[in-house]
Amino acid sequence: MDWKSSYEKNDFGTLFYSLVKIIKPDKIVELGTKAGYSAYHMAKAVKENDFGSIDCYDLWDGYPFNSCSLNTAKENLQEYSDIISFFKTDARKIEEKYNSVDLLHIDLGNHAEILEEILIPWLPKAKLIIMEGGSIERDNVEWMKKYNKKSINQWLKNKPFNYVIINPFPSVTLIENGKGH
Ligand SMILES: C[S@@+](CC[C@H](N)C(=O)[O-])C[C@H]1O[C@@H](n2cnc3c(N)ncnc32)[C@H](O)[C@@H]1O
Repeated sequence: MDWKSSYEKNDFGTLFYSLVKIIKPDKIVELGTKAGYSAYHMAKAVKENDFGSIDCYDLWDGYPFNSCSLNTAKENLQEYSDIISFFKTDARKIEEKYNSVDLLHIDLGNHAEILEEILIPWLPKAKLIIMEGGSIERDNVEWMKKYNKKSINQWLKNKPFNYVIINPFPSVTLIENGKGH
């Protein structure tokens, strides 16, 4: 499969699969699916768990930077069409549609401003959040500097939630707010 995903290099698919196997989430929401690499590995575990579903949100070819078509994602994830629903729409304010989700994945070309806007409103509603980025190496990728985007690593400091950064590139951060669940 041609995933065009930065997660491939260090086999983050195994982490996504393992998280879903161990947490056994009923409802997963993914903001930023592109060709479906992370969704594929979560869906594989959902299928083995025998329950659960994934709602995937992305602008796909409506995104002005680097994405692919919704059809490419659908083809890549065809095997899991009974588990995955696709929503071609902006990821902002999607939390308003949900009372609670078990696992939220945020992968929107992340930087501090987008996370402040999109992740923070999810905190009372998502039991566990996994987001792309968090390491200093990831903060220093070329496009972050070119477009003068703010550091995720700095943004994470002094936030009112527990988090752990998993460092191999591109890195992910696991977030648990410890409130209400
Ligand atoms: C890095 S890719 C996602 C990669 C994917 N999770 C994987 O495992 O390969 C980022 C995606 O976020 C989408 N995106 C960026 N900003 C968005 C927004 N505001 N609303 C919806 N989708 C957005 C882009 O279209 C792109 O497909």
